[in-house]
Order: sequence, then structure tokens, then C-alpha cells
Amino acid sequence: MKIFLDTANVEEIRQAAALGVLDGVTTNPTLAAREKRPFRELVLEICEIVGNGVVNTEVVSTDTEGMLREAREMASWHPNIVVKVPMTRAGVQALAVLSQEGVRVNITLVFSPSQALLVAKAGAYFVSPFLGRVDDISGDGMALLRDILTIYRAHNFRTQVLAASLRHPMHVVEAAKLGAHIATMPFKVFEQLFAHPLTDRGLEGFLKDWENARAVLGEIVEPEAARKARR
Ligand code: E4P
Repeated sequence: MKIFLDTANVEEIRQAAALGVLDGVTTNPTLAAREKRPFRELVLEICEIVGNGVVNTEVVSTDTEGMLREAREMASWHPNIVVKVPMTRAGVQALAVLSQEGVRVNITLVFSPSQALLVAKAGAYFVSPFLGRVDDISGDGMALLRDILTIYRAHNFRTQVLAASLRHPMHVVEAAKLGAHIATMPFKVFEQLFAHPLTDRGLEGFLKDWENARAVLGEIVEPEAARKARR
């Protein structure tokens, strides 16, 4: 499963990319607005940071023609851009045209298996079910993800399922167990994936024991001065 960061903040993206496990980024208009800088410049900087990873940027028009104009424009900025289009009638119409043109589209704001079925038929590259927002209104986000994956597998749809709106590490783990192709998450959740108190406690114990026996154990890497003296 690929891991995307759900943010437009370049510092967060830089930190995650440095750890070597980042496959891409999702942005949306709300996340972009928080950064308070020209959008194109921001997106290009994100593309540079993620290297070969994909960067998802969202249209803001609500009519098909406007969506097509914005999608074509953003797709021309960088080869790694995937354009997010909302799950509306106008959005699906735009998707059908864009997929024919070879523009990769991520259909966003997906909340039902029937929506996911339609966008796979229309050629979506990614589909983004918003699991956390379903849970927020007492629904079952994981059940939605499971249904979409079942439909896609039954019909060999090539659309990749991007589990979105993840709120905590277990959302990521459950999405991985179900076989989601991608999980996108806020930086905070990404960081939480690393953490375990037993790792911290275990490491502390190992280092203390090593330190106490250092005089006997010696150094793993011989200090430069000692190496030179030996030559
Ligand atoms: C996905 O691409 C969306 O940007 C995102 O996951 C929405 O998450 P939220 O429900 O936490 O805003």
C-alpha cells in the first residue's frame, strides 16, 4: 500500500520525504488555503520534494467546462500531477473527457459504493472514499472501503482505491488489511505510525546495557584517530 501525506505544507512533506516511505501527496482547497501562497508555485515546490511521487491537486470549478480548463492547466504544470475532481455529475462528465485525453483523475468526496462504481467505469485513476467523514456521522467508513474494493475486484476495475480522510493509525492499518492501494493521512497520523512505547523502552534498555559494558565492548566504528594511528 502506498502512503500519501494529506497536506500542502512543504515542511511536513519535506520531513516525511526524508524518511524514505512517502509515495505522494494529496491536497485540497482547504489545505492549500492554509499555506497562504500562490498555488502554482506551492504545487511545483511539492512536486520537487516528492520526486517521483504523485501530487494530487483539486479543481475548484463546479461546471464541466471549468473543471476541464483547470484540470488541463494543472496537469500541464508537472508530469506527476493527478487532478482531483469532485464526485458530481459535472465531475463525472469531466472525468470521462479527461481520461480519454490521458489526464489522470482522482475522484474525490466519494461516500458510497455506487459513486465509486460510476467513476471506475468513467476511467478514474484514483477514487477517494472519505472514511473519517463517514465515521464522523456515525457511519462505517471501513465498510464503505470494503464494498468499493469488493466491487472493483469483482469487475477487474483498474481504478486505484485511495483511502482518504483517515483520522488515526488504526484507520491506516485497517485500510492496509483490506487491500486499499493507497492511504492518505495528515502528518500527525503519519508520525503516529512510527510510535510504540515498547520500542522506546526497549531501546533505552539496550543502550543503557551497552553503555555499562562499553569499556569491554569497545567501539563498533573505530574512531578516525585510532584508525590512523594503526596504519
Ligand atoms: C483527501 O484527498 C482529502 O484531502 C482528505 O483526506 C480529507 O480529509 P478530512 O476529512 O480530514 O478533511
